[in-house]
Amino acid sequence: MNIEVQVQDVLTYKGDALIVNLFDGVKKPGGATGAVDQALGGLISQAIAQGEFRGKSGTTLLLHTQGKVKAERVLVAGLGKQEQFGLESVRVVTGQALRVLRRHGCRRVGTILHGSGAGGLGVKEVAQAVTEGALLGLYTFDRYKKKEEDHKPIQALALLLRDRVQVAEVRGGSGTGQIIARAVNLARDLVNEPSNSLTPQALAAQAQSVAKAGKLTCQILGKRQLERMGMGAFLGVAQGSDRPPVLIVLSYRGGRRKQPDLGLVGKGITFDSGGISIKPSEGMEQMKGDMAGGAAVIAAMGAIARIKPPINVTAIVPACENLPSGSALKPGDVVRTMDGKTIEVVNTDAEGRLVLADALCYARRLGCPRLVDAATLTGACVVALGSVRSGAFTNDQGWMDRVGAAAQAVGEKVWQMPMDGEYDEQISSDVADVKNIGGRKAGAVTAAKFLARFVAEIPWVHLDIAGTTQADKEKGYTPKGATGVPVQTLIRVALDLAAGKD
Ligand code: BES
Ligand code: ZN
Ligand code: ZN
Repeated sequence: MNIEVQVQDVLTYKGDALIVNLFDGVKKPGGATGAVDQALGGLISQAIAQGEFRGKSGTTLLLHTQGKVKAERVLVAGLGKQEQFGLESVRVVTGQALRVLRRHGCRRVGTILHGSGAGGLGVKEVAQAVTEGALLGLYTFDRYKKKEEDHKPIQALALLLRDRVQVAEVRGGSGTGQIIARAVNLARDLVNEPSNSLTPQALAAQAQSVAKAGKLTCQILGKRQLERMGMGAFLGVAQGSDRPPVLIVLSYRGGRRKQPDLGLVGKGITFDSGGISIKPSEGMEQMKGDMAGGAAVIAAMGAIARIKPPINVTAIVPACENLPSGSALKPGDVVRTMDGKTIEVVNTDAEGRLVLADALCYARRLGCPRLVDAATLTGACVVALGSVRSGAFTNDQGWMDRVGAAAQAVGEKVWQMPMDGEYDEQISSDVADVKNIGGRKAGAVTAAKFLARFVAEIPWVHLDIAGTTQADKEKGYTPKGATGVPVQTLIRVALDLAAGKD
């Protein structure tokens, strides 16, 4: 879909549909909606008066214009209560409105910039939010489905504004929105892609193509190199599969220093069967998405490379499959990480923390002064927080607050979980330095506690995204399936860091 900026009166916009809006409870529409209402001979006010439409969030009213305005149709989108209105509502409303219009076969759509009128939200921010809502809300994953005869995607979205002075701002906001939304959609594609196609090697190839498109360097470390570095935990997980592991390292240099300012680490298990501690078959197909953290990190790096903040960011994604076979890791095995710690592998299904242990050591070796990792790490986190919030864990409250603020700003909800020292007991092993499971209690916390051993003193936030990366029903601008969480948070963390925000 093409997104263009047009200086034009809404009444003269020619296209299949025009989107205007209404706040909940407003009886007499004003502004652009008022002008359209008048041109339509009061059709909108009539629908309001008759109680058919009242501007509730998520509702829409579709009218045919019969030539009274230049657009074929007008869609009035409910903005919800004015007190609750914000950029997140703009994204939701735009995504929903465009999905309705797509169902009606509209190809060319114009929209006003919701809430950017006098005294409202900034026009640049609204242009970004409209763009994000549009691209995120219209996302589909249909590459394996036969195209329907009447399949007609929306081709063009025009952002309509009346004041020429705002053109540059709207272009800028929309440009940023496109970079961010396309990154989120890339992560969604990678999560939705089945594991027979998205192998560790394919994920590495994706990282390489992201690197090529931006100012990024990409290093793919193979099995030999991992052996040389002593990444025994990562190699242990990978050894049951015929496909070799890869360590994907992407670096962005926007700052003057040589060292990275920020390290992003993402779990890249392209399929998690559980290994010898095999999972029940029901729902196992969802484990094609066990690389969602890695996908988010790679996609976020692509966006960072385009936005070009003045800092250095390094991303690390350990990618492999977790499968049972004659060569697979077995319960009771002991593996050694690159920093020399030994791990008793009590359950081979707790593989994410094993691959991350070596990846976090590597991040430390590269000199990352602060870290964020994203991983579909535990079912326990899904039990605790459902699919509404990701779990957040830290060893540094100041860094947590900054990452939390970034997540909040982009509408990706997180909830901080405890990290008391008492939980450490649960992962102490009789035969090694640590064991990879901590029993039934507080499973998401003991997993984070395990990771904490490998980050040492570096300020670090771990995001357990097991419950938030795949949605079982559509919501707002997030269709069913992969959500793309936490791509937006990771981008925002980098931008805030570059802007020196504390
Ligand atoms: N990839 C899973 C976690 C997961 C569960 C992600 C549900 C998405 C949805 C992880 O590797 C895993 O299997 N964790 C185990 C850990 C247990 C053996 C300590 C779990 O949560 O059951
Ligand atoms: Zn597992
Ligand atoms: Zn897993």
